[in-house]
Amino acid sequence: NWTMDNIIDEKVEAIRQQVGDSKVILALSGGVDSSVVAALVHRAIGDQLTCVFVNHGMLRKGEPEMVEEVFRKQFNVPLVHVHAEERYAKLLAGVTDPEQKRRRIGTQFWKEFFSVAQKLDGVKYLAQGTIYPDIIESGARKTGGKASTIKSHHNLIPFPEGVHFDLIEPLDHFFKDEVRELGVSLGLPAKMVYRQPFPGPGLAIRIIGEVTPEKLAILKNADAIVREELDAYNERLFQETGERNSEHSCWQYFAVLPDIKSVGVMGDERTYQRPVIVRAVESSDAMTADWAKLPYDVIGQISSRIVDEVDGVNRVVYDVTPKPPATIEWE
Ligand code: XMP
Repeated sequence: NWTMDNIIDEKVEAIRQQVGDSKVILALSGGVDSSVVAALVHRAIGDQLTCVFVNHGMLRKGEPEMVEEVFRKQFNVPLVHVHAEERYAKLLAGVTDPEQKRRRIGTQFWKEFFSVAQKLDGVKYLAQGTIYPDIIESGARKTGGKASTIKSHHNLIPFPEGVHFDLIEPLDHFFKDEVRELGVSLGLPAKMVYRQPFPGPGLAIRIIGEVTPEKLAILKNADAIVREELDAYNERLFQETGERNSEHSCWQYFAVLPDIKSVGVMGDERTYQRPVIVRAVESSDAMTADWAKLPYDVIGQISSRIVDEVDGVNRVVYDVTPKPPATIEWE
């Protein structure tokens, strides 16, 4: 793609100019924006970039492995993988309030990140995957305010006392679809570039009530099945329409684990296990959304796979509420 290559060349040159022989650090989240900016900055300055991946244990099945695979193996980027899973588990024990979960996860994320950043010598810059809509949405960066939405997102970095980095934000004039194109041109896998929106606090806000290792395991396995089946369904639609995220394909699709159990029957035995909620929505901007009118056989396949393959689950339900009045997420 000629234009994309030109844009990349221009950005690469600008990053080289700005950075010189200084070092740059970047927080890799597994998301599209931070991945694309990592690939771009690495193209520009190679090993002067260090990526820090804070693993809070609440990414979806296979995602930490994908980050490792792409950045360490494929791109050969200096990568610090922070295994913070245990610390997060402790931090979230007993916490049931959704906003409390968000705050704790967000605050800890940057604590983990800066504790690595401060140990690296001579880092002058922090590269960030801020994109144009982030700036519009927050509208607040210049005044030092906080992005205030119904739910708190943690895209804006609060520097701790006494810490300073200059920011590099090469994507700050791009929209999401342009960022994806850039990612493809930089050689990132489609799976990463077309990743559906996923909340920073991760699976923690898809587990209603307390996050426990048992609930996390159930949700990861059920969610992987939902994604497998709906990725395949989206792919079929893509073949037909030639468009990704067309108005007929799902925008976000995932599993939610409520904090209840229900009675079921298995052979001659009565079971008392967890239900899994499947949520799949169509949307163009997440401000409003409608539940996806999935074919019954797709829903049926998801349901039978989940009850067959995931221990501790005896029931699957499908969420048929638009936004508003519901939100896309359950917390
Ligand atoms: P709701 O649930 O409010 O979600 O309809 C709208 C969009 O925002 C995502 N979302 C989040 N993203 N941190 C994030 O980075 C969060 O705490 C968060 N909560 C919701 C949600 O997945 C949807 O795309």
